[in-house]
Amino acid sequence: MYFQMISKIQKNYDKTISLLAENEIAFCSCVSKQNQDMITKIFQKKKFSAKEGEVCEISFLENENLCTTIFIGLGKKEDLTKNILRESLYSALEKETGHFLISSEDPDLIDLDIFAEIAEHINYDFDKYKSKKKDKFLYLDFYNPNQLKFPQESQILSEISSIVRNLINEPAAYMTPDRLSIEAQICSEKYGFEIEILDEHKADSLGMKAFLAVGRAAFDRPKVIVMRYLGNPHSKEKTALIGKGVCYDTGGLSLKPTSSMLNMKDDMSGAATVIGIMSAVAQNKIKHNVIGVIAACENAIGPNAYRPGDVIGSLNGKTIEVTNTDAEGRLTLADALTYSIRIEKATELIDIATLTGAMYMALGSEACGVITNTPSLYEKLVKASENWREEFWQMPLFKNQKKSLKSSIADIKNSGPRQAGASFAAKFLEEFVEEKPWLHLDVAGTCFSEEGDSYYKKGATGQLLRSVYTYLKDKEL
Ligand code: BES
Ligand code: MN
Ligand code: ZN
Repeated sequence: MYFQMISKIQKNYDKTISLLAENEIAFCSCVSKQNQDMITKIFQKKKFSAKEGEVCEISFLENENLCTTIFIGLGKKEDLTKNILRESLYSALEKETGHFLISSEDPDLIDLDIFAEIAEHINYDFDKYKSKKKDKFLYLDFYNPNQLKFPQESQILSEISSIVRNLINEPAAYMTPDRLSIEAQICSEKYGFEIEILDEHKADSLGMKAFLAVGRAAFDRPKVIVMRYLGNPHSKEKTALIGKGVCYDTGGLSLKPTSSMLNMKDDMSGAATVIGIMSAVAQNKIKHNVIGVIAACENAIGPNAYRPGDVIGSLNGKTIEVTNTDAEGRLTLADALTYSIRIEKATELIDIATLTGAMYMALGSEACGVITNTPSLYEKLVKASENWREEFWQMPLFKNQKKSLKSSIADIKNSGPRQAGASFAAKFLEEFVEEKPWLHLDVAGTCFSEEGDSYYKKGATGQLLRSVYTYLKDKEL
């Protein structure tokens, strides 16, 4: 654990962090009057007034000890949000290591949830495959004479977020459907939810033909991962989280060029996020029934691959003309949706999927695209995401697009024109939701940061875990 609360200052810290609101400079009582005057002069000289984004590091002698303090400006107190605090701390401390004491004279600037989150976030590094591992970490100690409670929930979400990121960052050679199901099993034991793994024979006997067509050519065999947590057994309400679990997406015979394939290990981000949400919901004993369903497979090429032009069946009974084998996610999700409704009796559906390049092009990495048949669910999700650095943006579900689903040889086809491709994908999924309230979350742009940004490092971001968890928790209200 990188965040701690201490009741006594016992060691010499590498640095002290001091949080300041704009034009409200206050010093810790442990700083001598003389030093306060000196620091105030340095602030004036550097024109530091604690505006948002301003950082000033000063070293001074205090009782013959050399003290270094990073003063972090947070802007006007009345404008301060969790996101400003989160990003300010991240950008000021991102490159720091050592033991730091975090303090503020102003209780309004103290946010233990963010301190715990930021400590875990800054220290995260996927270095499993590097010969030289990260060996220096940042430890944040918060001086807590007022006996504030440890931010347990934030700490758990942070730890689970790192698990989710690891699952996504693992190359596909390791994170196979089988491995993913083992990881889900480990989480089920650690956090306390039920799990069942269906092998391809079981999936076949149920009739999951669309899903199995996608996974057919791969050496690593498909698996269905079903997770159950009944937090309110007297209620019939049950939310199913359906995670796209394509462990690698070559595009199949509609093969992707190398540059588009490079990050396709992240095509199981939805699945990883669902495992994370199940863990968080179970660990925090949320009073709502939640299940997670992942149809995990690899979209590979080989002599046995499904082809453009093939007609395949589905668990729902609808026949599908495969017009593009790279539109595989929606085929796996179709069967996972039907499974959730018919076998697990889900009353509400949330799918999380790296579904379309079109959504990525439309929203970039700024927001997760949401498409729904029940707009009030979108409003609830946005409310749940308020304090997290996870943005959502609603995209349309067009009535008219139903025509584009028509196939001349089967009930529907799996790909349409390039225009409005994200909405088309949702239109396809709508064929399988059986009029249940449904949120489709297309995370193609937000699950993985290609370059890193003001808060997320290069690689898996772990986004959505916290918002969807909060959405489910809010059902208790
Ligand atoms: N996994 C991809 C979508 C994707 C693209 C995720 C970029 C993350 C980054 C999905 O399976 C896919 O290939 N979609 C196709 C659909 C098309 C063939 C209709 C796409 O978006 O190009
Ligand atoms: Mn694809
Ligand atoms: Zn895909």
